[in-house]
Amino acid sequence: MDIEQVRQAYASVAELYIGLFGSRQQVHPDDLAFIGRHLAGRTGTVLDLGCGPGHITGHLYSLGADATGIDMVPEFIAHARAAHPSVRYQLGSMEDLDVADHSIAGILAWYSLIHLPPQDLDGVLAGFRRAMAPAGRLVLGFFDGDEVAAFDHKVVTAFRWPVDEISERLTRIGFTEVERLRRPSDGAHRPHAAIAAVTTEG
Ligand SMILES: C[S@@+](CC[C@H](N)C(=O)[O-])C[C@H]1O[C@@H](n2cnc3c(N)ncnc32)[C@H](O)[C@@H]1O
Repeated sequence: MDIEQVRQAYASVAELYIGLFGSRQQVHPDDLAFIGRHLAGRTGTVLDLGCGPGHITGHLYSLGADATGIDMVPEFIAHARAAHPSVRYQLGSMEDLDVADHSIAGILAWYSLIHLPPQDLDGVLAGFRRAMAPAGRLVLGFFDGDEVAAFDHKVVTAFRWPVDEISERLTRIGFTEVERLRRPSDGAHRPHAAIAAVTTEG
């Protein structure tokens, strides 16, 4: 599975995905609060990487963040621009960020690293780290699990990750965890985790 397969998989279900998941009302209130608490008050650009329909970017913008959404699926970017005309959205890949080093105040990657082959995760996180300004804040949302394992996600194969494993990788790459949130399965949703981290300075 490569990035082109993931892009095509989302493009083929974009309309359905937007209907099911594309508004802030469809995001758990605890998650909106977590994201807002770590990213809304930052001075400087906040990137929502793999923004999908752009609803969380719009939420951050409504909270006063200088937010830009980036996704590799043109259908999502077109929808996001129409739904949130005041917000910036760009077609692009989070694996090849077109930003200066140390220029970004915050990054959100909400369920957008889930399809990455595990061996590629550290490289992508290192790219995020390079983009981050001092005291930059990173927020990740992902499927929680006891071990790194692939599963049949409805769109395309995804991976679940232990929170401690993500946290340790972040530490090695130059981030320090500041908060985590976990929610067990409720039958309808898989176990969920989120981590907020700040760049480790010095
Ligand atoms: C599960 S969706 C999450 C979308 C959105 N963050 C949300 O919470 O609804 C995963 C998103 O990540 C995007 N994505 C995956 N890999 C990407 C990459 N390398 N660059 C940009 N976007 C990517 C997909 O196009 C898709 O929109």
